[in-house]
Amino acid sequence: MQHRTIGGRAVSAIGLGGMPMSIEGRPDRDRSIATIHAALDAGVTLIDTADAYHLHADEVGHNEELIAEGLRTYGGDTSDVLVATKGGHLRPGDGSWTKDGRPEYLKEAVKASAKRLGVEAIGLYQFHRPDPNVPYGDSVGAIRDLLDDGVIEMAGISNADPGQIRQAQDILGGRLVSVQNQFSPRFRSSEPELDLCTELGIAFLPWSPLGGISNAGELATRHAAFAEVAADHGVSPYQVVLAWELALSHVVVPIPGASRPASITDSAAAAELELTADEVARLSAA
Ligand SMILES: NC(=O)c1ccc[n+]([C@@H]2O[C@H](COP(=O)([O-])OP(=O)(O)OC[C@H]3O[C@@H](n4cnc5c(N)ncnc54)[C@H](OP(=O)(O)O)[C@@H]3O)[C@@H](O)[C@H]2O)c1
Repeated sequence: MQHRTIGGRAVSAIGLGGMPMSIEGRPDRDRSIATIHAALDAGVTLIDTADAYHLHADEVGHNEELIAEGLRTYGGDTSDVLVATKGGHLRPGDGSWTKDGRPEYLKEAVKASAKRLGVEAIGLYQFHRPDPNVPYGDSVGAIRDLLDDGVIEMAGISNADPGQIRQAQDILGGRLVSVQNQFSPRFRSSEPELDLCTELGIAFLPWSPLGGISNAGELATRHAAFAEVAADHGVSPYQVVLAWELALSHVVVPIPGASRPASITDSAAAAELELTADEVARLSAA
């Protein structure tokens, strides 16, 4: 497995996104654990989760608990796995997503996440989404305090625009290690953030890198160029999408979601797929 770095720490070039194992349409626990184990078998050492990946109001942290269980029950060494979680987004249980970026809320949420993950300090904690009711600097200021106090080892942000990336980097005193924004063949609006992360040397984690849970199945039909390049290489179009994202910048670390072992096994192989410069240009223009 090819590696990339987040804040100087080596991680697999392809991570695992945990969300499909805990929200609408999720599989049973056994299939989820098998999916996490398949990721580890494939050499994945970055797992993305969030306290908000759950369905019902009384199961906050469902996905964090699954990830912790998957790591605990894996027969091999998992000490090099970076679990990246997030706080500041909530699911009240009616299907909606709400926000709470208040410093006092984030400081309590992080403690609950650490407990569920079974760690003293969280490897990478990401502020999930700006809260329009709280000044961005206040929310990121809480993340800085968590770093200073050793509650988290590394700090990231998500769903941020270029101004917020620069503001966070300033507030964190240059310690911002990652930005997680939506990016896929279908949704390319985060190109300015990707460019800025490349310039600043900050990891860029495309979320929904395959177009999202409900769109991933139509990848080949919606994006013919990716299917054509896949046929040329004899691989799945999913691998071509992920290899294309990796080729866009050395700071990119895609986190494809999976709820089946076969999905993440196939996606992880994208780290070994080499596209030519012509293919990358053709896919970027598609
Ligand atoms: N920061 C944010 O606001 C935010 C928002 C959304 C998502 N995220 C993160 O980003 C991660 C990825 O996004 P996502 O899960 O929404 O969407 P995605 O990665 O674009 O698509 C996930 C879906 O693609 C399918 N899939 C993945 N690899 C495949 C393969 N090689 N072959 C066939 N099917 C494949 C999976 O199917 P199966 O389920 O059948 O395995 C899964 O349901 C999430 O899990 C989450 O960690 C973050």
